[in-house]
Amino acid sequence: MARFSCIFALCCLLTASASNIRIKSLSAARSFPANFGFGASTASYQIEGAWDVDGKGISIWDYLVRTDPNHIADNSNGDIAANSYYNYKRDIEMLKELGATHYRFSISWPRILPLGRSNYVNQRGIDHYNAFIDELIANDIVPFATMYHWDLPQTLSELGGWTNEEIVDWFGDYARILYQNFGDRVKHWLTINEPYIHCNFGYGYGRHAPLIQSPGEGYYECGRHILLANARAYRIYNEDFRNTQNGQVGIVLSSDWAYPASDSADDIQAAEDYLAFHLRLYMDPIFSAQGNYPQTVIDRVQAASTAQGLTASRLRPFTQEQIEYIRGTSDFLALNTYSSKIVYRNSSLTGTFVVPSHNDDAFLDTYMDDSWPASESPWLREHAPGFYNLLVYIKDTYNNPTVYITENGFSSTPGLHDDGRVNYYRNYLSALLDALAEGCDVRGYFAWSLMDNFEWAMGYTQRFGLYQVDMEDPQRTRTPRKSALVYKEIISSRVIDYDYNPDPYDTDGAFTVSASIIMTLGVAVINMVL
Ligand SMILES: *[C@@H]1O[C@H](CO)[C@@H](O)[C@H](O)[C@H]1NC(C)=O
Repeated sequence: MARFSCIFALCCLLTASASNIRIKSLSAARSFPANFGFGASTASYQIEGAWDVDGKGISIWDYLVRTDPNHIADNSNGDIAANSYYNYKRDIEMLKELGATHYRFSISWPRILPLGRSNYVNQRGIDHYNAFIDELIANDIVPFATMYHWDLPQTLSELGGWTNEEIVDWFGDYARILYQNFGDRVKHWLTINEPYIHCNFGYGYGRHAPLIQSPGEGYYECGRHILLANARAYRIYNEDFRNTQNGQVGIVLSSDWAYPASDSADDIQAAEDYLAFHLRLYMDPIFSAQGNYPQTVIDRVQAASTAQGLTASRLRPFTQEQIEYIRGTSDFLALNTYSSKIVYRNSSLTGTFVVPSHNDDAFLDTYMDDSWPASESPWLREHAPGFYNLLVYIKDTYNNPTVYITENGFSSTPGLHDDGRVNYYRNYLSALLDALAEGCDVRGYFAWSLMDNFEWAMGYTQRFGLYQVDMEDPQRTRTPRKSALVYKEIISSRVIDYDYNPDPYDTDGAFTVSASIIMTLGVAVINMVL
């Protein structure tokens, strides 16, 4: 008994130290290694604007906001967004202000290939990204370039987009053009952003472009082709570019952590199923030793499809050749993660409805704990221990792959005093330190987002920026929030100091503004004298 309680106490201690991530410790073990990369993330449609200039083609989001403007919460669009197509030098200056060493941005497919296909390349689009990437390199910022962050050329969408298997060829051709034009300077390629979210909202529940509602079929077809397209882009790099360019290529996956709602076998299984249907559906085919979809998902969708009277599974099986083609096609995992879910089995979702959905196939429901601090986004509450749990799960399940956190962040209302975001970043980065101490091979962290941007169907109603963007100002002026000053301090000191309490009005940013006002006045005075 004594022995038991001793072990019990030890367990409690370990659990407490793993989940009590608010401890303030400045020991070497609680600091980020010197070579750990810090940066911020954005995506083309969310920040660039310039939707119809310099030969750019129409994307599915350009199309959506013109044909169905009420679909966006504030009837807004990304026509101008943060105007980064023109403001990119200021964006890079902001990265320098933060002390960031890395930037994750995405390239707009229709800016490079206005009609989607590679037979017509828009040189002005190439010129734009060349100038932008050159400016990053000149500022010693390592580019992480996403090839596809949801702005599909509309021409390809009209042929079925990600539900048409031809897209494996279309995407491969596009990737080749990117390697040819930018691969001399871009050494980290992120192929496709978040298949789960893109397929679920774009082809499942019709909340994002292209607004397809097919949660039991289109959803799975989209994911299938994203896995094949990622593999195509990876293999093209291996065959024709890796020797000369020496870079890396990987996919961007997203998942929250999942806790069982109770210790019942059903709920424990439901939490495992959540990870299988959200993360492992995309991760196993690439990162597991055997490849292919998780067997639980294969079996569940097959059984539900049969019960629905279908003659084949809605999760179309890969051939053995395809399994081998996809397996191993990521040099690292780019992981986007924001929150955690509590999961329970809902047995009335039997997976046998006539109108099928992947949610019914999983037959589970989720909620979040009310005590977790709420953001402006209903799906996002702060719970940093889940971040730690997810990283350790990935390490243990997939033989400790190299991971970059390519998105992590918290939404707020406008305003510079963003203490919710400050707490979020401190606690998540502290959980990340715990994961590093546990041996997780995480090499870098990108905050979502560098600046406020077009948050898809939510328009500008949810702000994710370290920098506030004044969306009423034609210049789209950027101002650092308190979180930007805190992040800057973490990057330079490599430790998390919970007592640091900067005033966001007293900033380098403000200094830059007043310096430029002084310059302008000075020029005006000189002009007057002359
Ligand atoms: C279970 O799912 C059904 C069907 O969607 C729903 O009506 C019900 O509210 C869910 N039950 C619980 C406890 O969430």
